[in-house]
Amino acid sequence: HNKYTLNIIPGDGIGKEVVPVSLKVLEKLSEKFDFQLKFKFFDYSCDYYLKHGAMMDKDGMKKLADCDAILLGAVGMPNVPDHISLWGLLIPIRRAFDQYVNLRPVKSLKGINGVLKEKKNIDYLIVRENSEGEYSDLGGIIYPDTENEMVIQHSVFSKKGTERIVKYAFELAHHRKKTLTSATKSNGIIHSMIFWDNIFENISKQNPKVITSKFHIDILCAQVVKNPDWFDVIVASNLFGDILSDLGPVCTGGMGIAPSANLNPEGKFPSMFEPVHGSAPDIYGKNIANPIATIWSCVMMLEYLGEKEAAAHLFACIEKITESTKTTPDLGGSLTTTQVGESIIELL
Ligand code: NAD
Ligand code: IPM
Ligand code: MN
Repeated sequence: HNKYTLNIIPGDGIGKEVVPVSLKVLEKLSEKFDFQLKFKFFDYSCDYYLKHGAMMDKDGMKKLADCDAILLGAVGMPNVPDHISLWGLLIPIRRAFDQYVNLRPVKSLKGINGVLKEKKNIDYLIVRENSEGEYSDLGGIIYPDTENEMVIQHSVFSKKGTERIVKYAFELAHHRKKTLTSATKSNGIIHSMIFWDNIFENISKQNPKVITSKFHIDILCAQVVKNPDWFDVIVASNLFGDILSDLGPVCTGGMGIAPSANLNPEGKFPSMFEPVHGSAPDIYGKNIANPIATIWSCVMMLEYLGEKEAAAHLFACIEKITESTKTTPDLGGSLTTTQVGESIIELL
């Protein structure tokens, strides 16, 4: 049978609560579906930083590279500035492992409907560019501490970087409803988005079977709430994709259920699976964080590893939970993180 090595980074805050619960679920699943998992744990986190002065050790990236996939909880806590924790752990992993696709499904689950008054059948995929764009470290403060003080932040949109994410999105669209939406802001204001649109149009000519549309990000934010059924695959830059991927889940059930995959499609480096949410310092330590976002991320990981049957079974069990009252407070239930994990294990 198949054997997989997983590098596990619980990270910060509720990452340390939802990851162990998810691992128990994975262990049970592996017995049922006859595959083997080896977990290697890494304590890279803000606590690690406070002890060692860095978010990971010097050859951290080399150690992390050695696995079949990475599972991460969350990075960032109020006691360490975000620019240190994020640029010291989360962003280096996404970039050094060239995980340029950030796949974030937004899908209605049985029994819940987020902030929407009526249940809608929402099912779209956000394909977020994950390696460049607005998230660049080019720029900084000029004329500090003078009346002319200013800050400049460059966006980086390379031809290669834009083409590969757009091509990936078209490929996905071919396997779904053959419709693809591009998130843009090209009404003459932002140069990088005119560049983005041109590349999108060129690649759409090579994919005549896919029906395309483009929406400016402002009205797109309105339409994913009002008419979510218009969308099937949405391709977006790093920042736009980040915004859409919190907005989408709030319409289906909230941050507690939003999964994601950071993919290196070529398989040259490991891919990383993590919930969309962060460390949630406001609820950390209470054992009430919803583990579903992380468990659903594990479903994506199993699909990626080729354990399709196990993935489908785990997803079905997640929906049995959302259909029941066996949920955490964010979904209106009164169970703890651990109890939700136990309920899923029972269902497996
Ligand atoms: P957050 O996602 O941590 O929390 C936002 C809100 O959602 C909070 O009210 C929180 O209680 C709630 N929430 C999040 N996950 C939940 C869950 N599983 N169950 C129930 N409720 C949940 O976002 P934030 O407060 O903006 O950020 C906190 C820290 O996490 C910051 O340091 C931020 O930079 C970091 N962060 C990291 C990641 C990541 O590691 N990928 C993602 C987002 C934020
Ligand atoms: C996410 C997070 C991160 C991002 C932050 C913490 C850097 O918000 O994974 O969505 O913007 O990518
Ligand atoms: Mn985000």
